[in-house]
Formats: sequence, structure tokens, C-alpha cells
Amino acid sequence: MRALMKMLRRRPDGEKAKENDPLAPPSSCLWERVSHFAGEIQKSDFMAEMSRAFDGPDGHGLMGTLDCATLYGLTRWRRPTVIVESGGYLGMSSAFILKALADEGLPKARLYSFEWNRDCDHGALIPSELRSQFVPLSGKIEDFEKRDELPAKIDMFLHDSSHRYRHMLWEFRQFWGRLGNGGLLVSHDVHFNAAFAEFVAKTHARDKKGILDVERTTHHEWGRWGYIGFVVKKTT
Ligand SMILES: C[S@@+](CC[C@H](N)C(=O)[O-])C[C@H]1O[C@@H](n2cnc3c(N)ncnc32)[C@H](O)[C@@H]1O
Repeated sequence: MRALMKMLRRRPDGEKAKENDPLAPPSSCLWERVSHFAGEIQKSDFMAEMSRAFDGPDGHGLMGTLDCATLYGLTRWRRPTVIVESGGYLGMSSAFILKALADEGLPKARLYSFEWNRDCDHGALIPSELRSQFVPLSGKIEDFEKRDELPAKIDMFLHDSSHRYRHMLWEFRQFWGRLGNGGLLVSHDVHFNAAFAEFVAKTHARDKKGILDVERTTHHEWGRWGYIGFVVKKTT
């Protein structure tokens, strides 16, 4: 357990996370770049290969193709080093994050994937050539938090565990606090309840007349695409 803690506390790139990272990607061209990358992967052999899993017995629990393409595009746009995902399951979403890291040439990046169900073959769908950057962790993500065993600073978070309202909000708040400037929070299945909409609404600041106060607003950009929602953090 000590070795795990050491690994989680140290950033894989050997650097401390910078609070106001000047290299955080500009969000101005986010939509264009994400849709470009998403289009690219949709037409790829990788997508065709991964899509075969949807016909299998566990296909219904996997992230769908459009959402996987969006996730891939967002990951390529952000170029994260430390990524946390909740609800790793068989690894469909993990595979697309890892593919994006490979396509961006980010060998030091790590994906910490939390999966509660010990009976599921966590990450089984991930192609072997993408596995070296995958760190599977078994147990409820909230138990890791209670034991103070989550990475303190992260660049990207994906929620895809329990879609109960309270749990989603808990994860959003928990991992938003760990993201630095330009950090990316992604959620799957944002249409299940109001948690994502309420969370994003809280990142907006308004003046007394109800007009958006851009200076005090704590996101650079946010959006919804398919069943994916995302917010890019701004530290004020
Ligand atoms: C919809 S599936 C995830 C699909 C996966 N992202 C993919 O694309 O292959 C949800 C998973 O979240 C796991 N889960 C639910 N609550 C959890 C928790 N509190 N901590 C960690 N994993 C959890 C479930 O066991 C289940 O395998």
C-alpha cells in the first residue's frame, strides 16, 4: 500500500502540478480540435476493432461509440499527464483515453482507473500495446478518498461509476478540487439526473443584475455532446 501511495503522490512526469499552468491549452479552439480528433477516431480501424465488444454479452455496460470518440478528442485536446477515471469496468472508456495518450505521444502519462466490482475483468478490453500506462485500482473510489489514497493533483477526471445524483455530485466536487488551471472534468451519462447541470451552474458567477461575470467564473469552457459533459477549470 505504501508503494501505491508513493506512486499516487508523485506525478509521472516528475514535475509538480503548476497551479496556473501557462501551458494549459487555450480553450478558444477546443470545439474544432475535439470534433476533428473525434471524427478521425470514428473512421479508424481502432474504433472498428473496439466496437466488436458491443455485440458481446457485456456490451450494454460499455461507453458508446460517439461518447468514446468525444472522450478521445477531449483527451487529445487536453494532453493530460495524470488522469483519474471512476467506473473502469471492462475498459472501453480507458482504451480510448489510452489511445489518445499514445496518439499524442505522452508516454509518461498515467490513467488511474477505479473499479468497485472485484468480479469484473477490469480493463480486459484494453489492447496490450496500450496497457503500460493503465493503473487499475480495485475498490470504491470513495473508500480511496477516505484513506487519503487519491492523487492530490490531476489534469483530467472522468466520471463513469454510479450515476446516482449524490454520488455524481460528490465525485465532481472531489475531483474539481484536485484539478489545476486548464484541468478537464468529464462526465458520462449527464442526462441521468441534474447533478452535472447543477455542478456546472455553480461554476458560473453572476453580478447583481444576473449578468455573467466572466472574471469570477471558474470555468474556461464547458459543453455537452451526446451523453458526455465536460468542464475546463479556471483557477481565479
Ligand atoms: C457504466 S460502467 C463503466 C463503463 C466503463 N467506463 C467502460 O466504458 O467500459 C460503471 C462501473 O462503475 C462501477 N462502480 C459503481 N460505483 C462505483 C464506485 N463507487 N467506485 C468505483 N467503481 C464503481 C461499477 O461496478 C461498474 O463496473
